[in-house]
Amino acid sequence: MKAGTMIREFKAKDGREVTLRAPKWDDLDDMLEFINALVDEGADIMMDTRQTREQEVDWLARLLTRLEKDEMSVVVAEVGGRFVGQVEVTKRNMNSKHVGVLGIALKDGFREIGIGTELMKEAENQSRRLGLEILNLEVFGTNKRARHVNEKVGYREVGTWPKAVKRDGAYIDAVMMSKELSE
Ligand SMILES: CC(C)(COP(=O)(O)OP(=O)(O)OC[C@H]1O[C@@H](n2cnc3c(N)ncnc32)[C@H](O)[C@@H]1OP(=O)(O)O)[C@@H](O)C(=O)NCCC(=O)NCCS
Repeated sequence: MKAGTMIREFKAKDGREVTLRAPKWDDLDDMLEFINALVDEGADIMMDTRQTREQEVDWLARLLTRLEKDEMSVVVAEVGGRFVGQVEVTKRNMNSKHVGVLGIALKDGFREIGIGTELMKEAENQSRRLGLEILNLEVFGTNKRARHVNEKVGYREVGTWPKAVKRDGAYIDAVMMSKELSE
């Protein structure tokens, strides 16, 4: 998919208009602010270190290259012309090339108004377009909201990596979830 491609629009539960589209270079500063805000708030994601602009430039360059080659799908949610979150699906390779690995996060202030659910559904549409059959993800065991959303859109829990996360000396299990796209 080409950078910036428009996908669709919908209204969030609080009435705000949300645009779903592919990411583009102009998202760089919003994305940098976004990842660093997630790190600062201690969100339930794997990233634990603030990123520099240079690191974000490298990361976005790689992401856009892989997006354009259809090696992954990335769907950005935009509200009021600004990036507010995204879902990405990375295609695995070799004997697992029918499997995608999903990650999702939204900016604080844009959660619990239905955007995450719509992003999860759109990730499926895009994954089917890429020929994927199965989507897998991992979620912190303590992240009840994400587990609820994932279950709601059809993922089932298939196992646990005990103590896979260690944060401030405390262990958290990682819960593995999976969905077959034919279901
Ligand atoms: C997890 C996340 C992507 C979900 O997206 P969202 O837009 O907030 O979710 P939605 O508004 O679509 O849905 C939220 C649902 O969770 C429910 N919920 C909220 N808190 C909950 C809790 N503590 N336990 C169970 N369900 C909860 C809401 O009631 C709502 O359910 P409903 O749709 O059945 O009414 C988003 O909150 C986020 O980015 N969080 C921070 C980063 C993160 O956790 N990423 C996930 C990594 S796997």
